Order: sequence, then C-alpha cells, then structure tokens
Amino acid sequence: MRTHYCGELREEHIDQNVALCGWVHRRRDHGGVIFVDLRDHRGLLQVVFDPDSPDTFALAESLRNEFVIRVQGRVRARPADTANAELPTGQVEVLGSVLEVLNRAQTPPFQLDDEDVNEEHRMRYRYIDLRRPVMQQRLRLRARIVRTLRRFLENHEFVDVETPVLTRATPEGARDYLVPSRTQPGSFFALPQSPQLFKQLLMMSGLDRYYQIVRCFRDEDLRADRQPEFTQLDIETSFMDEQAITSLVETMMRELFAEVLDVQLPVPFPRMTHAEAVHRFGTDRPDLRIPLELVEVADLMQQVEFKVFAGPAADPQGRVTALRVPGGGALTRKEIDDYTAFVARYGARGLAYIKCNEVARGRDGLQSPILKFLPDEAIEAIVERTAAADGDLVFFGADKAAVVSESLGALRVRLGHDLQLLEPGWRPLWVVDFPMFEWDAREKRYSAIHHPFTAPAVPSKDALRADPGAALSRAYDMVLNGTELGGGSIRIHTPEMQQTVFEVLGIGKDEAREKFGFLLDALEFGCPPHGGIAFGLDRLVMLMAGAASIRDVMAFPKTQSATDLLTDAPSPVPEAQLRELAIRVRLPAGGERAASETQ
Ligand code: AMO
Ligand code: AMP
Repeated sequence: MRTHYCGELREEHIDQNVALCGWVHRRRDHGGVIFVDLRDHRGLLQVVFDPDSPDTFALAESLRNEFVIRVQGRVRARPADTANAELPTGQVEVLGSVLEVLNRAQTPPFQLDDEDVNEEHRMRYRYIDLRRPVMQQRLRLRARIVRTLRRFLENHEFVDVETPVLTRATPEGARDYLVPSRTQPGSFFALPQSPQLFKQLLMMSGLDRYYQIVRCFRDEDLRADRQPEFTQLDIETSFMDEQAITSLVETMMRELFAEVLDVQLPVPFPRMTHAEAVHRFGTDRPDLRIPLELVEVADLMQQVEFKVFAGPAADPQGRVTALRVPGGGALTRKEIDDYTAFVARYGARGLAYIKCNEVARGRDGLQSPILKFLPDEAIEAIVERTAAADGDLVFFGADKAAVVSESLGALRVRLGHDLQLLEPGWRPLWVVDFPMFEWDAREKRYSAIHHPFTAPAVPSKDALRADPGAALSRAYDMVLNGTELGGGSIRIHTPEMQQTVFEVLGIGKDEAREKFGFLLDALEFGCPPHGGIAFGLDRLVMLMAGAASIRDVMAFPKTQSATDLLTDAPSPVPEAQLRELAIRVRLPAGGERAASETQ
C-alpha cells in the first residue's frame, strides 16, 4: 500500500513517485490549493492537492481530521519561503495526484495537538490519545527498554519462566484482588502481588537464575507512581550474596542507561544505610538531586521554654529537626501557611520557622514567632549547625520521629521543586540495612518491612527472638531520583529461620502451615541460599521518558479510582454468572448493585 513512511521523506526523495498512508492531521485550504498534514508513526508530511486534478481535488475538499487516507504523488521541494524548519520533512512536500479515503472519522473528541486534554477523556479515547507523537515515543521507548533488559539477562544466563496468575495470596503488604472459584464455591484465587514465592520455589528447583517481566496486582491507594496492575522485572538467583546481586543489576542499569539514553551512571552506585537516609533526608528513597538536608537540633532544645520543642527533644522516640532553605527568607506569609498545611497532611502539628535577615546581628537579625521562647545559645547553635546565611529561612519539625521524618522529608522534596533547587542528572543509590520489622502500635505486633521471606541479618534464630525490633534485614532498595525503582533481599533458606520469622510476626504454626505449608515443605527438601530483586518497570520507563506519571507510559492504564474508562471495567455481571459462582449480591434500597458477598 505504501512506498515510504510520511515522516521519513527528505530532499533526497525529490522527484520520486511515492505512495503514503496515514491520518489527516490537519487540512488547510489556501487560495485554491488544499494542504493536508499527513501523519503516521514516523511523523508529519505536507501533501498538496491543486485543482489541476479536479476529481482528486474535490475528494480532498471532503477530508476532515483523522480520516485515514492513501495518497500517491510526486515529492517536490518546498519553495524556500514556505519550508518549515521545525519539521524534519519540512523541506519537501508531496503533490497528490491520486487520493483514496480508506476510512472516514467523526470529529475527534480532542485535538491531538492540544496539550491540556483532561486525563479521563484521554483514557476513554485512549486509541486516539496514543496517536499523539509523545505517546508513540513513550511506548516505543518502553519496548526498547524491555528489549535491552531482556538481552542483558539472557546474556547472563537468566531463564525466563512464567508463573501463575490464578494463585494464592502473596503478602507484599497490599490488599489482594480475588477471583472466585466456580468449581469450589466460596473459595477464591488471589491475583499475585508479586511472583515472590514462585521465584523462590524455582531456585529450589535448581533454575539458578530466573527472570520474568510479569504483571502484578495490588489493590491499594493509587498515586502517580502506583497502579493496581503494574509490571515488574522480577529476578532471582541462587548462590549469590547481596554484593553480587546488587553489583549485577547495577551493571544492567548502567548498560540500559548508556544504550537507551546515552547516560553514564556512576560506578558503583553509592550505598546508604536506611538509618542514614531517614536521618539526613527523612525518607528511605532520598532524591539526591535536592541539595537540602535535615539537621538534628534535639540536643539544643531539651531545656528550652518552648514546650513544642522541649517535649519531643526529651522523648527517646521524638525528633527535633531543622531544614535550612537557601533564599527562603523571600517566602511570603501565605507561602509559609501553605507549607504548614502541606506538612499537616503528614501529621505535623505545625511548622515553626526562623527567617535569617542578618545573621551577624544575632537575635536582632532574625525574625520568627518562636524566637522569644529560645535562649541565645540555642539560637546561635542553630544558625551555626544549619549554616544559615542572610536571606535563608530555617524550618523546624518537632514530634514523634516518624512524623518529623515524613513531614520534613516531604517538605524537602516539595521545596526542592518549588524553588527549583534540583541539580540536573541521574542520582541512583542503594539503600541498605533496613530494619527487619516495624512495630505496629495499633495492632500491637511486628510487621515485616520488606516481606516475611527476607533473611534477617542476625547470627541465629535465638538472636532474632531475643530482640526482633533491633534486627536489620538483608534487604536492599534501588532508588533513582527519589523514586523507589526496585527492592529485593537475600531470602531465608532454612525452615527453622522461616518459622521463627513467622512467629515474630504473630503467624502461628497452624496459620503458617495453612498459608505457606508448600514453602515450609520446600525448605525441607534441599533449598540453596538465594536472593533477588524486582524492579517496577513502569516506574523505570516513567523516569527514563521524563513522564510525570506511570499512566503515561502504560498503553491502557486505570484511573486513580482503579477503573478502566476505555472498556468501562469493572462492571456488573449477569445474575446467572454470580449464581454459578455462589455469590449473592445485596441490592440496597435504590436497587443499585453496590456490594457483593459470598454465601
Ligand atoms: P516490592 O513490593 O518492593 O517488592 O515491589 C518491587 C517494585 O515494584 C514497583 N511497584 C509498583 N509499581 C507500580 N505500581 C505499584 N502499585 C507498585 N508496587 C510496587 C516498585 C517496587 O520497588 N517480591 C518483592 C521483590 C523481591 O523481594 O524480590 C516485591 O514485590 O518499583
Ligand atoms: P504555637 O505556639 O502553637 O502558636 O506555635 C508556634 C509556632 O510553632 C508556629 O509557627 C507553629 O507552626 C510551630 N509549631 C507548632 N507545633 C509544631 C511542631 N510540632 N513542629 C514544628 N513546629 C511547630
């Protein structure tokens, strides 16, 4: 049907007869001549129809945006004054002699050039949205990234193995998507939150090196970098320790970035302990492009009159921290109020600040509602420790450590973006030495920070039992520019340690048997030491594409409320189908089907 792609014609094609297919991007009528910008996945090309061929011209007059056409004609140079330097094909045009309308189109719901189309609209008409060059580039970039990753792993003897989608719950911390069983009424499959246990079983099966590009399902609150179904690059290896695994996947990332973006990532990636990350940046996924750090000031505040600071300063679980904002003295009252409301979302009860007008003048050169509560020594020490200079502002957080870290950590990122402090480039790092467990005060029990199959960094199970709260794990996260790209760990490979971890988590013997009997059994039959990692592929592509959301690098994403607007899923199903699954649906007074329950 075609001899060339629209986007590839250049001056070297002048005087050739060509056949082209594509979409009418725009039609303009100009003094008896019709111009059509014809679009395919390679780009735009100007096609001209003149009245010398009256039938073709008449047909060209009927063209509308997004009609699909085939054109035959001759390539010619554009007159110098009409050439378009911004278009790669802008030096040439095709004089159309034969025109076929392959399909008509209704007026599209939005113009492809329009930058601010409402996202729901884009999702409902995704096939039109995906025609936009930027979306085409992102999908193609994604395919290239996948190809490059696969090639690396295949070259390193990784074997691609598929694992079930209809399975049992894997505890990764989110809610499960359930699928009712017809053959066992009242029983459900869970869609995998990750292939975690299957990849471990594959190590016990002697596969040695496994990988899979695999869909995972998590029913959790959605954000810009979270979708209910997303893709992992999932990896597991036998007989490799954390050094060997992290070094291997680090090389993979370096090769990927070099090949696809021509970017050289550092050798090796820096490593930071979880404790240091939280201490300096308030988070376990620090964005190292932002040159702001949290500074501890609790020791200066223990004796002060200001209870807001003195309380947490004396509390072993408290934290009192300062965040210097270079040039922050220019922030207005309203902006500070906005930031105060921002940190309140993370539980902070206020956001004290000191504006530094003229540091050399001591107390008189500063401006703050809390100055009157602070002695001179504390003020001097704060200025010195934060290295605050004239024109800066220092924010403070005082509360339970978790609240301060989260709120000031988020404020640091927000300020970095608002004040455009980000240094350009790519800043990967490994975060290591995570705590094994975290104490859930509401449920009064420990929960696993990674997942319950992660090996603790302790010499024995007795050491773990003695003080679970103090144990670190053998987990590692890869972080890039403030996004958690991937996480993994060395796994438990003995049944005794696995039992002990279940015990600490309050999973009794019977429950462990019931839920993970197959794993406990497999651990009894010759399990190699093993470990691995999983990367969020959508997040990786999002970062590499410079997109703001993972929805922009997925062909058919779901909305924030986990619906697919294109196919209108989820949707009610016929009663008969529910009966077959032994599911009874209660219809509330309005008659609308709202909730389902099993019998
Ligand atoms: P984890 O739960 O950390 O580890 O997931 C690994 C990576 O998957 C990505 N990710 C997501 N991406 C988009 N939407 C989501 N809802 C979502 N949830 C997670 C993140 C994350 O770093 N089985 C373990 C891995 C292992 O131990 O090997 C696991 O799934 O980028
Ligand atoms: P108040 O005494 O409540 O008027 O607070 C005085 C200043 O301290 C205000 O700027 C508050 O925003 C700030 N503030 C109050 N509670 C905290 C807190 N927990 N951490 C940091 N600043 C706080």
